[in-house]
Amino acid sequence: MHLSNDFITARAHTNIALIKYWGKKNDDLIIPNNNSLSLTLNEFYTETSVKFDSSLSKDLVLLDDHDISDSNQIINFLDIIRTKANINASAYVKSYNHVPTSAGLASSASGFAALAAAGSKAAGLQLSLTEMSKLARRGSGSATRSIFGGFSEWIKGNTDNDSYGKSIQDPVAMDINMIAIILDKKPKKISSRIGMKRSVETSPYYNAWTKQTEIDLIKAKEAIKSNNFKALGQVAESNSMRMHALTMSAYPSFMYFNQDSIEVINTVKNLRENGIDCYFTMDAGPNVKIICQSADIKIIKNKLANKFDENQMVVSKPGRGIEFI
Ligand code: PMV
Repeated sequence: MHLSNDFITARAHTNIALIKYWGKKNDDLIIPNNNSLSLTLNEFYTETSVKFDSSLSKDLVLLDDHDISDSNQIINFLDIIRTKANINASAYVKSYNHVPTSAGLASSASGFAALAAAGSKAAGLQLSLTEMSKLARRGSGSATRSIFGGFSEWIKGNTDNDSYGKSIQDPVAMDINMIAIILDKKPKKISSRIGMKRSVETSPYYNAWTKQTEIDLIKAKEAIKSNNFKALGQVAESNSMRMHALTMSAYPSFMYFNQDSIEVINTVKNLRENGIDCYFTMDAGPNVKIICQSADIKIIKNKLANKFDENQMVVSKPGRGIEFI
């Protein structure tokens, strides 16, 4: 393999699932129980530079200039790249999360997508987007989808070789925005990894979730195809609430909502009752993402302005897939 002498830099945007991934059938390989579908966002991204250097005695990993070289998750991921490329050299990794505020949205999706792209190329591998997505999956499941721009789907598969993301539509035809309402910047108490495992093992509703999510996925894909914003928003909101029902029905139960999340959800419902077509989705934390069309952004932000600061409401359009820079 030909190792690059220079740093290789890649940029990946984060993505927000409209149809969620929540539970694995293989924890080591990160093979999910159901397909998921997401929108890649232009406002939030990670830029990562990697160089493999045989003069280094161990991996050196900096995230936003902080030394995180003791992160097993990253060292294990670099080991996967080394094995694929058949090299031994240690890596020098420099990664920066670009978010408009220090948002607490810094996601593992953009992080592992950027590391998969930059790391594989720096190790001398020339991966297709599909192969890159499979590699990104080994770091974090949602990273499979951040290799692609616009709408993308993670095909669940059964093995390391047939579980990967693919593009559904890029560029996006629909007028769709996400307003991320930043409610809490602290790291979540229960990681998605632990939360989904507990849901799979203890929620009596888990089988119903996988069944319903297959139906939701079909609806979402139809809505994208027919450019139907309302249908997509409706199914995304329902699917998100179904995922959160798994956390509340797990043992011990847990939830990602805080009081402000409920307030934002009620505001979205209220706006809808008043004719503004908007929907919400939430992941493994209290921040709420509002799905809306461009003409409604102002009115939605105004409605929330008495409770939240301008810099807590970050508007994002669809974003691009992986780029080398
Ligand atoms: O890929 P992870 O381990 O960060 O899990 C992502 C889980 C959700 O964000 C809640 C859903 C999803 O599909 O992105």
